[in-house]
Amino acid sequence: MTEEKKRILFVDDDRNVLDGLRRMLYPMRRKWKMEFVMVASDALKVMAHTHYDVIVSDLRMPGMDGIDLLEKVREKYPDTIRFMLSGYAEQTTQGRAAKCVHQYISKPCNAKHLKNMVSRAVVLRDRLKSKKVTEIVSSLRSLPVMPDIYQEIIEILGSECSSRQVGKIIARDIGMSSKILQVVNSAFYGRSSNIVDPIHAVVYLGLKTIEALVLTQGIFSKLPEKTAKRFFVSALQEHCIRVGMLARAICQSEEMTKEHLEAATMAGILHEAGKMILITKFPDEYEQAIATSRDRQIPVYEIERDIIGVTHAELGGCLLDMWGLPNTIIESATFHHEPWLCNDNEFSTVSVVYAANVIDHQLCCGRGDGWFENVNDEYLEQLGIADRWLQWKRMHLPIEIGEFEYVG
Ligand SMILES: [Fe+2]
Ligand SMILES: [Fe+2]
Repeated sequence: MTEEKKRILFVDDDRNVLDGLRRMLYPMRRKWKMEFVMVASDALKVMAHTHYDVIVSDLRMPGMDGIDLLEKVREKYPDTIRFMLSGYAEQTTQGRAAKCVHQYISKPCNAKHLKNMVSRAVVLRDRLKSKKVTEIVSSLRSLPVMPDIYQEIIEILGSECSSRQVGKIIARDIGMSSKILQVVNSAFYGRSSNIVDPIHAVVYLGLKTIEALVLTQGIFSKLPEKTAKRFFVSALQEHCIRVGMLARAICQSEEMTKEHLEAATMAGILHEAGKMILITKFPDEYEQAIATSRDRQIPVYEIERDIIGVTHAELGGCLLDMWGLPNTIIESATFHHEPWLCNDNEFSTVSVVYAANVIDHQLCCGRGDGWFENVNDEYLEQLGIADRWLQWKRMHLPIEIGEFEYVG
């Protein structure tokens, strides 16, 4: 069976840019059906009668600019993946663009990078919108809502933001402040003196880490105590934080960019968000999946796929997608157990989160965890990172709170 071609629409007012893209992407013509338009309103006209899988738009254009265009596309065709071509300095994850841009592509871009980004986004979308996943997600009457406090923080970030304001919002919520203070004072940050003020904690941790912490704490703290105990949720939260911190340390040691480091930290903290859906919507099936996984030594996500039809990783991806998080984070969460499926054969945020997660599961197994498989050596070899493994493992730091069995 031949795979259906993906339809991609490119919009740029500069004819040279479009011609360049056309030449550069010519080798993709067997997989992609590409169209090129110079005016944003023309893009909307062609979209009115043809479905596009992806739109790649320039930011600055006369008349309707790229953000206005992508905003309209989001409203009318929410399934179309929206890329923004822009100069590095113009890229922002805040304000108007945050709501409508899935991912930025830096100008000037090379063919390999562009092909890679678009193909990965398509693979991710196909996975999250597969018939089975869509069926299950749409059958759930409600999905965890974004915590109010997160929305408040995001609104501030859209305007002239200061860490002080974010710290003040967090300080109003006792549970949230104590979680954040616990992280900032943990061994990961190697502090000898105590930080007791949420405002200092925000400055110290950085806004991206705070955003991820606010999101996980916001959803997990809503669970009734009995359910939280049944599924060892505080151990799960500790695991997520450690994975985020280890992912950050790996990025640092590999001298990755600040953007990679921030995305990997956020994705690490959020990688198990989908378990929240299993715990609230499929508690018995999930409990059974954990028990079977331990019993038969099969990874828990495989059993979830068997019993429920979808894995916590895919559900997490859907949730983060619904919340409008950037594609890199959704991708890292969706593929955190099977990064080789994401169509990226380079070392990236997805690989970092995979590695950090495996290391943490190997070294401390939460009481609510299923059986955990070994690292995929072949995958590490393919990416050329096999020799880094032991060094990363040594960067893992001990845990501080109960509900764990030490296994490493
Ligand atoms: Fe997981
Ligand atoms: Fe995990």
